[in-house]
Amino acid sequence: MKKKGTLFALLMTFVLILAACGTSKDEGSNGSDGKKKLRVVTDAAYAPFEYMDKNKIVGFDVEIFEAVAKEAKYDYEIVNAGWDPLFAELQNKTADVGLSAITINDDRKKTYDFSVPYFKSTNKILAPKNTDIKSAQDLKGKRVAVQTSTTGAEAVDALLGANSKQVKKFENNNLAILQMKSGGADAVVADNAVIEAYAKNNPKDNFIVIEDKEGFESEYYGLMFPKDSKLVGDFDKAFNAILDNGTYAEIYKKWFGTDPDIENLKAQQ
Ligand code: ARG
Repeated sequence: MKKKGTLFALLMTFVLILAACGTSKDEGSNGSDGKKKLRVVTDAAYAPFEYMDKNKIVGFDVEIFEAVAKEAKYDYEIVNAGWDPLFAELQNKTADVGLSAITINDDRKKTYDFSVPYFKSTNKILAPKNTDIKSAQDLKGKRVAVQTSTTGAEAVDALLGANSKQVKKFENNNLAILQMKSGGADAVVADNAVIEAYAKNNPKDNFIVIEDKEGFESEYYGLMFPKDSKLVGDFDKAFNAILDNGTYAEIYKKWFGTDPDIENLKAQQ
């Protein structure tokens, strides 16, 4: 009798463990309509796309995601995981979506899936007003601060050499800017909208924005998913809906003050 009881207890434990695995792996907790609640990971130190306002994650990306998730009928939670951890989570499939001004490129496509593009970007240079930097080429020989594992970091590595001590890499872009502010770097390279917003919102820092259309390529942001995620189709459909019904344009205008080039975005699909 005693033996049977133990066996039963053991069996039950096993069943419970199995059940727990089933829900925590890729299903998440269930939303109101029975669909799972998505875990959306970001690095909220990249205004105006995602940043902390008091204790809230806000920004253009946050509002765009709100719109597409509503359209595709998904419940979600945005978590400020950080940039490198965000990639790790998507690779390990512990998160469902990466929302972080993430550039779609061939290298990342080997490991992750992407939505249709939702924003056009390019790298620009932020530097003190009295700088002699006029182009990407002028960064050679300078101390350049970048966020690690970004397309900006890649572009600077290509210019200065991947192991150059002149390239200072930081966990987030705000730290890269802080390095320049304290005199530890001559320039920061990051996405244009981020650089422009910083220069505009912090006039006392006396930084200017340097553009080099030949020196830096055009890039497009997408939502990033674990490889073979079933979510891609739903979100692509939702993106096209908000591009067509005016919601995208409304959010874009609110954050950037101009009308988006929707034709161009659609032509990239
Ligand atoms: N667009 C660049 C990239 O994908 C930089 C993105 C950084 N995003 C962020 N939230 N820190 O590499």
